Amino acid sequence: MRRTAPDFTHLLAPGRIGPLTLPSRVIMPAMDMNVCHDGVIVEADVEHYVARAAGGAGMVITSASAVAFPVGATSMKEPGLSEDRFIPGLRALADAVHAAGSLLCVQATHHGKVARIDTLEGRPLLVPSAPQAAHDLSALRDNTPEELARMGAVTRGKSPTYHEATDDDIAWLIDQFVRAACRVMEAGADAIEIHCAHGYVLGGFLSRADNKRTDAWGGSLENRARLACEVIAAVRRAVGDRLAVLVRVAGEEYGEEGALSLAETVEAARLFEAAGADAIHVTGWGRNPFRDFLRGPLPNEVGAYRHSARAVRAAVGIPVIAVGRVLPEVGEEMIAGGDADFVAMGRQLLADPGLVDKLRAGRPESVRPCINCYVCVEQNFWDETPVCAVNPALGDEQAAVFLPVPSPRHVVVVGGGPAGMEVARISRERGHRVTLVEAGDRLGGSAWFSQLTTPPNGPLLSWQEHELERLGVVVRLGQQATPASIMALRPSTVVLATGASRGLPAVPGADLPHVQTGDTLRALLTGAGTAQGSRRMRWLGRAGRLTGLTSRPDLIRRATRTVLPVGKDVVVIGGSLVGLELAEFFAERGKSVTVLEAGAQLGLPMALPRRWHAVRRATDHGVHVERQATIEEITATTVRYTDPEGRSRTAPADLVVVASEVASGAPLADELTERGVAVEVVGDAAEVGYIQGAIHSAWRVARTL
Ligand SMILES: Cc1cc2nc3c(=O)[nH]c(=O)nc-3n(C[C@H](O)[C@H](O)[C@H](O)COP(=O)(O)O)c2cc1C
Ligand code: SF4
Repeated sequence: MRRTAPDFTHLLAPGRIGPLTLPSRVIMPAMDMNVCHDGVIVEADVEHYVARAAGGAGMVITSASAVAFPVGATSMKEPGLSEDRFIPGLRALADAVHAAGSLLCVQATHHGKVARIDTLEGRPLLVPSAPQAAHDLSALRDNTPEELARMGAVTRGKSPTYHEATDDDIAWLIDQFVRAACRVMEAGADAIEIHCAHGYVLGGFLSRADNKRTDAWGGSLENRARLACEVIAAVRRAVGDRLAVLVRVAGEEYGEEGALSLAETVEAARLFEAAGADAIHVTGWGRNPFRDFLRGPLPNEVGAYRHSARAVRAAVGIPVIAVGRVLPEVGEEMIAGGDADFVAMGRQLLADPGLVDKLRAGRPESVRPCINCYVCVEQNFWDETPVCAVNPALGDEQAAVFLPVPSPRHVVVVGGGPAGMEVARISRERGHRVTLVEAGDRLGGSAWFSQLTTPPNGPLLSWQEHELERLGVVVRLGQQATPASIMALRPSTVVLATGASRGLPAVPGADLPHVQTGDTLRALLTGAGTAQGSRRMRWLGRAGRLTGLTSRPDLIRRATRTVLPVGKDVVVIGGSLVGLELAEFFAERGKSVTVLEAGAQLGLPMALPRRWHAVRRATDHGVHVERQATIEEITATTVRYTDPEGRSRTAPADLVVVASEVASGAPLADELTERGVAVEVVGDAAEVGYIQGAIHSAWRVARTL
């Protein structure tokens, strides 16, 4: 049955903010690109924003820009607003965004207690009150030494010192915002967003947890909101109605008692409106980034701040913008249902700059989805430019231009996982004839299985499949490729995307029937192949296959919560990305899980904030973790290992899942090369790199074919 295309009428309607009319209700929120040179906006910045403007975003907001640059800045690569020398770059950006049909808003801030440049240059951090307690930093245990070194290098290892703002500092700060707003206006931008969240200085004054003052700037909510209100009012006086004035505020701060509550934010929003704000942009903030980053500012949950936006909207008469993993369908629902007037889509627009136009063209299935992997924002921890796992053109828009080939050839792709599908898609876009051969009976490879533990991977595979169909790639499922069968297709080039091999540890007992690799576990859960396992498990797999249950990851996820006959005790060997996610999968289904990891860190190579979160979730689910464990033997009921102190230990095991021993390799490559055909290898077959590695290597190769 054909599904009716969703309707995005509300999302695509124009809307007003102060003096402005936005062509759609989708706004791109501030996201650091870290490409400016000493605060000056450069061409790569312009191209980045223009791609989103041209793709239909109603307004694009620049990354946080420092009103007193370099004072109060967190990077020398963020835009500066403190001198006239910054105006030409801003003007070029405003002109280009306007030419692309959108509007430009500049986010203005002083980074307060996270102003890394102040620490680097030996200045104390400007705060309402000196911090009283240090953050819990235990999550950093799962950073590699290299990652720790890169984070420390941003401030050259210097430790922060703090300065409680005096009345003079406060007057200076208000003046800096006003001067910055005048430059934004002079550059021809349309709006300024005053940042009053995420722990930056205005947000710090607003939060009870950061502001312990007893003067007119602390204490009651009105006093704590006073600085932001004075900034808003002073900016409003300076710019009149020549700029719209937006205010970004956290609906709630998470992770600490006594932090900013939604009731307080609602009250503050009323004060911001009275001070002259044209719109309130509702975000959220986890106060300890090492523990609560996935609650805010980059939430894991879809539509995470919907209830906050709704509460604020009920209290004010100006438009409300809601952010927080707003997917198109959810955004439409939110606007139609009165939760917000506008929605901001951050990572969605990093993953696909053309999102809004695709919705407008009635092609929502063509939108390349963000997989919520946090690879982009990880780069900000060490002051680098974001990288997108699914959109290698982020930061280099020219990379998204696929040149047509002068003389099309026949490209045969072996393997239908994300790497194979991506090579096939781009090769076909460029004009080649493409045949994709897949041994399994569905596309997606091991990434299909990963949806069981990581549901956002699913929409990416659906998008790729849809693109292959749209472009007319010939897909042959259920065909085990051999050199002879490939040569029979008469390829000009063969691209091997056959994935990684998953082996077993070289210890006694690794061949016992209750020991599974990722491949055999997948076969059991999806009823494919002839993997060994308990009789009940194999029977269930087969029954699921006959009823169609195993073709739907959501149904497998649900069904295995009720029935998962693998025994009570599960040992996962290897605590990397896959191991940790499998551990959580089994623990959520009531199993008693032990993870045995050979290294010192868990969750590699997950991007940092997600890794910290995954480790904590596994521990919250009661998963027992042993780092630096050496596996000695597997028996019918236990796994014996040596702990870092050299003691011999055992973990009970009805099921052993081996998530280590993953290796790249493309066994067909040599034979095909010997037969004189050009061969390329991509994805995990070339180097184990999961989805990011798959997509990026596919782009590199497909551009050269
Ligand atoms: C790479 C990256 C950098 C960000 N930098 C900023 C920033 O400079 N200022 C800000 O207020 N929020 C920043 N954010 C948060 C986003 O504006 C947005 O609130 C967040 O990503 C949640 O929206 P999303 O789920 O649609 O991505 C950043 C997000 C990302 C992914
Ligand atoms: S890197 Fe991951 S989280 Fe960030 S935009 Fe791309 S897909 Fe989304």
